[in-house]
Amino acid sequence: MLRIVPYSHPALRYESVPVQRIDEKLRTQVRSMFDLMYEARGIGLAANQVGLPFRFFILNLTCDPDQTQQEQVFINPEIVKRHSFVIEEEGCLSFPGIYYNVQRARKIRARAFDLAGNLVEIEAEDLLSRAIQHETDHLAGRLFIDLLSAEDKRAAADKIQEVEAGYRRAQAEGIYPPDDEIKRQLNALAKGESASTAV
Ligand code: NI
Repeated sequence: MLRIVPYSHPALRYESVPVQRIDEKLRTQVRSMFDLMYEARGIGLAANQVGLPFRFFILNLTCDPDQTQQEQVFINPEIVKRHSFVIEEEGCLSFPGIYYNVQRARKIRARAFDLAGNLVEIEAEDLLSRAIQHETDHLAGRLFIDLLSAEDKRAAADKIQEVEAGYRRAQAEGIYPPDDEIKRQLNALAKGESASTAV
């Protein structure tokens, strides 16, 4: 069973590996991720946020489970161009309740495979552009808190520590294995050596 992991679960700093096959297993994982994302009222979710160290993420900017035609899956995504910059508030399902300004490119060009295996190139602006950048960062182990201004970093420190304390409590209760074991599982998954998930 998949679950959205909070900071500082090691999956969030994991540099994900490319998806090798678009198959039934991946489609099942994508479906579970959409369910989890809607439940958490998010608009995007990266695979490593559910303990899967693979380069894909999902989006539905409407945050509405009935709007399935708005669901987007980005597999092995790459941002190939960035134009101009804009600062807007951003949050992340791995940091519940934490929102801060982040500078992102206003407009990007990105390439990714979709669930049908087609290579798709898109031009994105504003919220879509921001979401693609946020999620693509996740896949490289980068988090939005890394991009805060020095002032916001100081202001956010206590709230981030609270999220981390929640993770450590859950770990102490046995909901998550020790970090070393999680890292071992992530490496095994990334090498295709294990069928389970590292959460
Ligand atoms: Ni996020």
